[in-house]
Amino acid sequence: VSTSFEPGSAPEGFIPLSVPEIAGNAQQYLNQCIDSNWVSTAGPFVDRFEQSVAEASQAKYAIATVNGTAALHIALLLSNVRPNDEVLMPALTFIASANAVRYVGAWPLFIDSEELYGQLDAVKLARFLEAQCEFRSGKVTNRKTGREIRAILPVHILGHPVDLDPIIEIANRYQLPIIEDAAEAIGTKYLGRPVGNHGRIGCFSFNGNKLLTCGGGGMIVTDDSDLARRAKYLTTQAKDDPLEYVHGEVGYNYRLTNLQAALGLSQMELLADYVEKKRTIAKRYETAFQDIAEIQMMREASWAYSTYWMYTIRVPNDSRPLLRYLASRQIQSRPLWQPLHRSPAMVGCQSDSIEVADRLYQQSLSLPCSVGLASSDQDRVIEAVRTFFNS
Ligand SMILES: Cc1ncc(COP(=O)(O)O)c(C=O)c1O
Repeated sequence: VSTSFEPGSAPEGFIPLSVPEIAGNAQQYLNQCIDSNWVSTAGPFVDRFEQSVAEASQAKYAIATVNGTAALHIALLLSNVRPNDEVLMPALTFIASANAVRYVGAWPLFIDSEELYGQLDAVKLARFLEAQCEFRSGKVTNRKTGREIRAILPVHILGHPVDLDPIIEIANRYQLPIIEDAAEAIGTKYLGRPVGNHGRIGCFSFNGNKLLTCGGGGMIVTDDSDLARRAKYLTTQAKDDPLEYVHGEVGYNYRLTNLQAALGLSQMELLADYVEKKRTIAKRYETAFQDIAEIQMMREASWAYSTYWMYTIRVPNDSRPLLRYLASRQIQSRPLWQPLHRSPAMVGCQSDSIEVADRLYQQSLSLPCSVGLASSDQDRVIEAVRTFFNS
């Protein structure tokens, strides 16, 4: 059953999975761009948006990019990940995380998720490095492929943080940089501190389905001034001279427009309020489903402050019959991503005995959770899920 519609053509009563909540100063800021003619890839809102994401993620620097995938691409270049290197990352994530690794000619190496929160499993990561790799003179070599492992890319999926401390400990032990993919996790905290700036570089997405959106947009954050300078350079065509068109290397046009940044800034101003709203919806679902034995709810770890970006439940055996039933009731839900070791796009990439990610893929389902989801629509989702399970 299809739940994709052209804008404005969704049937009456359709409840979408997650739609943007444009409010606050959005209109005013966008009008300022139009009235001042600053609509393109420079302008005051780009700086202000960068400043606001830097502050929110407690990073010294933030560099805006055209989207989260571009941010990851640049982060990998900044980490000196080269063609034929390998990057350790979870199998269970949106494909953009792995595509960025392929853009630099390197190979993702997929590690399993842990069972409770579905995040990158630090124990399996450590075991892989210990059992399958050689660490000599500051270089980590994968014995099977003979390639060098150059970075670890943990991904905070669904708005819940990865347990970072053990991963930082592993990264220090093997002298590997961490690139945090926080695309789905603006506002998420790990041990009380916002995610994105726990490693050397972090990346955010402001795509339309995220908690906050620019329409499309991304951000790189770091505390390192050299990396920040280089990120700005590479994302702006590597231009060496303010006047002359002289370029030191192949750069990228990954700039964000002032229009997008204006929207982004207005969204950043609403972050705390939106996180609160997401957490309230999550609480509501949690209470409503607690007596349904067939459902496992999304958990929040002791180290975590989750935004519940995508409210995701587990239905042991198979989530797809529920997905189809909800679609028949005009309620959009969504499965998780095909684990990347199974993706035709990632043929040739190594994976390390993945079981949990496969299980999570089969059993999980994200429910409607737009920031602005009306209480009556929450009632409808709850009623439909309860009817499906006959509860
Ligand atoms: C985990 C993850 N990484 C990267 C991205 C890429 O971000 P974008 O869509 O802004 O390119 C996304 C989402 O879209 C994502 O969910």
